[in-house]
Amino acid sequence: MNTKFADILVIGSGVSGLFFAVKTAITRPDLQIVIMTKAEADNSNTRYAQGGIAVVTNNLKDSFEKHIEDTIKAGGGIGEEEVVKMVVYQAPERLKELIDFEVSFDKNHDGKWDLGLEGGHSEYRILHHKDISGLEIQQKMLLQVQKFRNVKLMENQYVLDLISEEINGVKQCSGAVFYDKKNKQTSAILAKAVVISTGGCGQVFKHTTNPDIATGDGIAMSYRAGAEIKDMQYIQFHPTALYEKDRNPYFLISEAVRGFGAYILNSQNKRFVFEYDNRGELATRDIVSKAIGSELLRSGKSNVYLDCRHLDYDEFYKHFPTITTYCKNEGIDLRKDLIPIIPVAHYQCGGIRVDVNSQTTIRNLFAIGECSCTGLHGKNRLASNSLLEALVFAHQSSTYICENIDVVSHSSQRVFDYKEISENDSEGLKVLKEQLKEIMTTLYIGTVERDEVEEKIMAIRQEYDLYIGNEIITLESKEFQNILDTAVLIVKHFKKQIVEV
Ligand code: SIN
Repeated sequence: MNTKFADILVIGSGVSGLFFAVKTAITRPDLQIVIMTKAEADNSNTRYAQGGIAVVTNNLKDSFEKHIEDTIKAGGGIGEEEVVKMVVYQAPERLKELIDFEVSFDKNHDGKWDLGLEGGHSEYRILHHKDISGLEIQQKMLLQVQKFRNVKLMENQYVLDLISEEINGVKQCSGAVFYDKKNKQTSAILAKAVVISTGGCGQVFKHTTNPDIATGDGIAMSYRAGAEIKDMQYIQFHPTALYEKDRNPYFLISEAVRGFGAYILNSQNKRFVFEYDNRGELATRDIVSKAIGSELLRSGKSNVYLDCRHLDYDEFYKHFPTITTYCKNEGIDLRKDLIPIIPVAHYQCGGIRVDVNSQTTIRNLFAIGECSCTGLHGKNRLASNSLLEALVFAHQSSTYICENIDVVSHSSQRVFDYKEISENDSEGLKVLKEQLKEIMTTLYIGTVERDEVEEKIMAIRQEYDLYIGNEIITLESKEFQNILDTAVLIVKHFKKQIVEV
């Protein structure tokens, strides 16, 4: 097998991977950094983040203490306080760097940040770029990446598995095996540090806001390599995805819309979320999603509604042009129509367990962004803390790697055994995949018992193993393996939680 070399391999091109690469390239122009992404560089969860980034800035009523308290409270009290403090205190510095990288955030008439409010925040503290904050960050960071000769961005490279070995009883990662979709070739790449930034796993579920690339790849391959994975049961459902039958992914109606004053109504035009929490629509996502789920079960309806009719339309359009236009194209006039909404899988709060430098439990393997479990989010992430976490942990890992990489050498391994990849379509897997997504959704929404879900997933696993035994590997079957491994981890962690309680 053809073998390439890099100092650092970054897998994934969301904000965490790009921010990491640019910062590392600045600090260490002598290091060769390769970013591999399985699709086009701008296809990531980051791109779809609408709301923005939570930072304590010029709101005189706000304080770091309040942001820390909101984060821990949203996470059900299990977030790690030291991690939360580190992230919140670092936020202004990381924001300044983003601005230095030419990312722009909206200001109001007096030249101050136009701070938004979202569920669970006790103050206005969300910096945003209209309703396309993630897209703005990703585009500007991609432009930055192009400025550095020591960063090579390789699109359409499907990383199949990590290369790991045990040296003196210590597991370490030394690279990855990947498939080049253009040249149709499987190769190995050896690196002194591997940074996973592959995002989340929304595509494990039938209904999600995540794009089709969000298939839990980084979690699954780290797990197969022996890394510790934590808290995968904490999948956050976003309460306000636009309800359109059989959509994948679902279009997100940003939480900032509720921060702007929108109401949630049931089919009798009644605001019902206050029955569950006295913050009403501005309670945290877990609470609002559960309230909607209960309302749907009670009423037997397919969706509830978001009501923007009482809001100043021109101001609304200024803040949310993408959402307004999308709704208009779907025949929804926000001045007189209600928006049908449902809760869908949105964010994975757990993931690959990392320390404050984003080191996993495998030496030389790091994880940043949504694929990681840093201890910040606890059971439920506070809105707009995800981009912030990605920046802070990209910074932490970059600093650590720049300081420590010189004592690491490339692995001496040169021979890699990997089953051949075929481009054939894996038709037989499509049905299994749909079954899996359906059953995983019922784990969170519905009345199916958890043991029943586990049995069904294990039956799918057996069918998959049989299939794989008989067929050659395709990219689809490899991706399905990642979805399946991630689903099994979610169910396992659910059960562990029940036993521990
Ligand atoms: C939103 O705008 O509601 C999503 C942003 C986030 O996930 O924090």
